[in-house]
Amino acid sequence: MAQRILITGCNGYIGCMLSKILQERGHSIRGFDNRLYPENFHVPGYAYLSKDIDYILKDVRDMTISDFEGINTVVHLAGLSNDPLGDLNDRVTRDINVYGTVEMASQAKKAGVKKLVFSSSCSVYGFSPMDNPVFFEEQSAKNPVSTYAETKLVCEGALTNMIDNDFSVVIMRNATVYGPSPRMRFDLLINAMVCSAFFDKEIVFYSNTQVKRPLINIEDLCNVFVFFVENDVPSEIYNIGRTIDNFSISDVAVLVCKAFYERFGKDIRLRYKIDDADPRSYLVSFKKLETRFGNLIKQSVYENILALIEIFSTNFTPDHNPSLTDTSFYSIRHLCRRLANGELTPDFRVIQATAERS
Ligand SMILES: NC(=O)c1ccc[n+]([C@@H]2O[C@H](COP(=O)([O-])OP(=O)(O)OC[C@H]3O[C@@H](n4cnc5c(N)ncnc54)[C@H](O)[C@@H]3O)[C@@H](O)[C@H]2O)c1
Repeated sequence: MAQRILITGCNGYIGCMLSKILQERGHSIRGFDNRLYPENFHVPGYAYLSKDIDYILKDVRDMTISDFEGINTVVHLAGLSNDPLGDLNDRVTRDINVYGTVEMASQAKKAGVKKLVFSSSCSVYGFSPMDNPVFFEEQSAKNPVSTYAETKLVCEGALTNMIDNDFSVVIMRNATVYGPSPRMRFDLLINAMVCSAFFDKEIVFYSNTQVKRPLINIEDLCNVFVFFVENDVPSEIYNIGRTIDNFSISDVAVLVCKAFYERFGKDIRLRYKIDDADPRSYLVSFKKLETRFGNLIKQSVYENILALIEIFSTNFTPDHNPSLTDTSFYSIRHLCRRLANGELTPDFRVIQATAERS
């Protein structure tokens, strides 16, 4: 049945894709974002701002009941969205990611919204010792090692406390995402490696190559959001990914090198500049998702690396690397630049005349 869905963060890496997919399935979409980042990549069939959506340009911290008028379901994506970015300003990260989320949810609940789908992260698991790796399940101990991951965990608890017969909350602990989007990010593992291999013909390792992460393709992730929006799913926490898609950094590098060789017949150099003791390393079990709902995730990492190389080839020429001049591919660089240019307040509020436009 068609729903009226509000998507916060609709101009983000995931939001651009999800708004379009939900709209194509017949839902009516209200998009909500403060446009921290611009459109920067061409993905056939997708746009930075999905066509004909009811759009509100506003900070998530300022949402009021009237923003949710007529809305059945909220998908909450807005926020500062990775570990290094969250460390840029601890107080503001908590303000946007925790205060913004909890206030938004309480306004939504007061307005009569029935369901909230929250985009959390597997980074809440933080760290598992490399000599004794365990696959984290939903109920396993959490050990967030960044402000970003902590904010996700605090939100999960606060949102869970809001569940009642009239308000359901589905929490998706997502694996690290990869793949193309009109708001492209090169600060995500696979996207970053393909970028570096494409432009520099090399992959540089900045941290221990044996650290582990689960990975998920962006369209697969969007399809899980769709499934959770459209179906009567119990108000619980779900790890989102596939158990077979837990990779070490070096596993991913091997696949990227293989894909470049297959596509161009050329080798990619590997360089080691390890100066960053990134403590994050986690293997995650997705048994709950697989057992409850079957095979929602279909795409393989290797095939998608090949697909990403093709889409790089249509967006860029190998001798002109726009990510050197356009900060928007890297969330942290972009926000630092906008802060330095006076386009954001110290609380990361967009000075509206400067909201990024497509
Ligand atoms: N990309 C991943 O690998 C990944 C993995 C796990 C979870 N997540 C979560 O999914 C969500 C979306 O991630 P993404 O990769 O699309 O991130 P993104 O940074 O591309 O998108 C976030 C969007 O939120 C908007 N936003 C930020 N602060 C806001 C504010 N104060 N008010 C209104 N809008 C605001 C930004 O303008 C942006 O469009 C985030 O909550 C992120 O933590 C992402």
